Amino acid sequence: MSYVTSLQEGPLLTLILNRSELLNALNAQVLDDLSAALDAVDLDTVRCLIFTGAGEKAFAAGADIAAMADMTPEEAAAFSRRGNEVFRRIETFPLPTIAAVNGYALGGGCELAMACDMRLCSETAVFGQPEVTLGITPGFGGTQRLMRLVGMGKAKELIFSARNVKAPKALEIGLVNAVYPPEELLPAAKKLGARIAKNAPIAVRACKAAMNEGIDLPMDEAVDAEIREFSGCFETEDQKRGMAAFLSKQKNVEFENR
Ligand code: COA
Repeated sequence: MSYVTSLQEGPLLTLILNRSELLNALNAQVLDDLSAALDAVDLDTVRCLIFTGAGEKAFAAGADIAAMADMTPEEAAAFSRRGNEVFRRIETFPLPTIAAVNGYALGGGCELAMACDMRLCSETAVFGQPEVTLGITPGFGGTQRLMRLVGMGKAKELIFSARNVKAPKALEIGLVNAVYPPEELLPAAKKLGARIAKNAPIAVRACKAAMNEGIDLPMDEAVDAEIREFSGCFETEDQKRGMAAFLSKQKNVEFENR
């Protein structure tokens, strides 16, 4: 049995962390199951991924503390490397990703949400990096992604103090894009996914590639990434279709992913 359930509805694929009895805590098996779920994504038909957690309490309450408790430094390095590998794969996955954070997103849960392109959350969501209360650092990208999202000063405050932030504060500091009542969270994520799915898929993927690459580059090199992705779009049918539709005043163009 897999700890990750995949549910495809048209162009949207929802990946559900399914270990609710332990608040979807991430052990090596959950990481492997996430990776296998990504392997199985049909890039021809899926246009957006949504990540969420099973149950009503948690998106994911972190890396599995019981599994980590007796690790040697070498085993800890391998676990951190694996988590970082899978989350980096999500971050660079060639489709847009939305985290629908339905409750606790602590430690590895917060890190998983931050590896996604966009974060929506429920009013019940709680974010945080509590690792220093356990005698460790974040291990799945938290020391790197939180500061890129909310700025160095706020990220250091949150990580050093291990203070959790509730949904309204997460919205205020830019950790999430929007907050919804619990029952409206998944519909809102799907609505956003469906809106993205209507746009030219190769262009959306090119935007993600240019933005991901550019954020770590000096501006002169970053704009080169944009020039490359922009010009690449002119090799696609969808560019011709999209521009012809505009010029002939045709509405609701259907893109073909070619
Ligand atoms: N790793 C392993 N097990 C975890 C876990 C984690 N990160 N988070 C929760 N669990 C387990 C609990 O041990 C408990 O298991 P049990 O029923 O066998 O005792 C079960 O999930 C339910 O959690 P519980 O603590 O009883 O729920 P709660 O509502 O009282 O508290 C939290 C919820 C999220 C505040 C609390 O579970 C917590 O602090 N979890 C750890 C968060 C953390 O430090 N994450 C970073 C890890 S690096």
